[in-house]
Amino acid sequence: MTSLSGLSRRALLGSAGAAGLAVGVAGGALGQQALAAPGPADDGAAVLGLAAIPFHGPRQAGILQPAQARVQLAAFDLADGAGRDGLRKLMQQWSATAARLARGEEAPSAENQIALDAGPCSLTFTFGFGASLFDRTGLTDRRPAGLTPLPDFPGDAIDRARSDGDLWVQIGSDDALVAFHALRVLQRQAAGLATLRWQMTGFGRTPGATPHPMTGRNLMGQVDGTNNPKPGQDGFEEKIFTGGAGWLNGGTYAVVRRIRMLLDNWESLPTDRQERVIGRRKSDGAPLSGGTETTAVDLAARGADGALAVAADAHIRVAAPASNGGATMLRRGFSYADGALADGSPDAGLLFVAFQADPMTGFVPVQRKLARGDGLSRFLRHESSGLYAVPPGAPEGGYVGQTLLD
Ligand code: HEM
Repeated sequence: MTSLSGLSRRALLGSAGAAGLAVGVAGGALGQQALAAPGPADDGAAVLGLAAIPFHGPRQAGILQPAQARVQLAAFDLADGAGRDGLRKLMQQWSATAARLARGEEAPSAENQIALDAGPCSLTFTFGFGASLFDRTGLTDRRPAGLTPLPDFPGDAIDRARSDGDLWVQIGSDDALVAFHALRVLQRQAAGLATLRWQMTGFGRTPGATPHPMTGRNLMGQVDGTNNPKPGQDGFEEKIFTGGAGWLNGGTYAVVRRIRMLLDNWESLPTDRQERVIGRRKSDGAPLSGGTETTAVDLAARGADGALAVAADAHIRVAAPASNGGATMLRRGFSYADGALADGSPDAGLLFVAFQADPMTGFVPVQRKLARGDGLSRFLRHESSGLYAVPPGAPEGGYVGQTLLD
């Protein structure tokens, strides 16, 4: 039985239509049925519900797909005594559940009906292992080299209670109820084996909110994500996914940072000064060296006054691979807004998530440079931090982490 009641299932299928085909449903039983029997296109929300991203595959889902409108990020700590067997059991159960929920089916256990009326809405699960997991499961000698704790960076204000953790999960969906449901099910299934260490809720732009697909904006109002590396580009695979013969072959590393934005300060800057801080126009994301959003940045370009068009401390200059010996990462961040701090300022910013083959040649050198010389860092506080080894995807019938645990 799927998680859709007869009525809502018919409603979803009946409203897929031409718009559903355009969305590019990525697979799954429900999605295929919908494509086979399209009805009148009258309800964009139902089309979003139909989109299904398979859990199984060579890569975990939630890395290469566009960021969904909603995310739950969470870390768990393994219970004392759970050990390697407990971890294996947990990963088997979580993987089986993730595969079902990603198809729009009910959870095999701990189902609490929160998402009963909805399709999967592009639900993805991405699991990662923190450095502490290896000691706790007797697997210290299998800890991958890249899982060395991130160094402290100048200006960091890290809350360790909301950092690190044995296990990490990123749950993305285009529906907030679907994402929360998925996390809640995983949490209840972990009873006795692992406890929640921290949880963060994030969001991005809802598909269909703009007249045509556009790069999203962050809470500072900037077009964010333009110069991400793209699959198919020279060296993409090697820079984002790990190679070698070990258990992490085909996986990656996730760096997760909760970065609060000092929005009151930022919003007091006039737009042209905000643009100089980043090096791109706010209206359309075009680089200040000229052209449109997707025009290559010319870091050497100068204006009529002879000054660098992209300032010496502009974020896109300091962060660029060209300024960091080719250092590359795939950013897949989400905004967060969690009310106000004691001083009344917004507790809001970016849940920065970046994937790379090696954090020591990806995130670390870039963040070192940003912390010292980036004009944007005056408006940011890094408040939590995590680094996780993200195993390769699981084949049909397998589970995430199997290459380490079997
Ligand atoms: C709240 C914090 C941050 C904000 C608001 C922010 C915003 C932006 C924006 C608006 C762009 C230009 C558009 C684009 O190419 O995506 C950009 C580019 C970029 N950012 Fe950030 N960023 C933040 C933190 C970071 C951090 C922590 C890193 C890495 C350590 C980073 C690395 C990059 C890189 C590599 C680029 C592309 C540069 C290029 O090659 O053109 N950003 N960021």
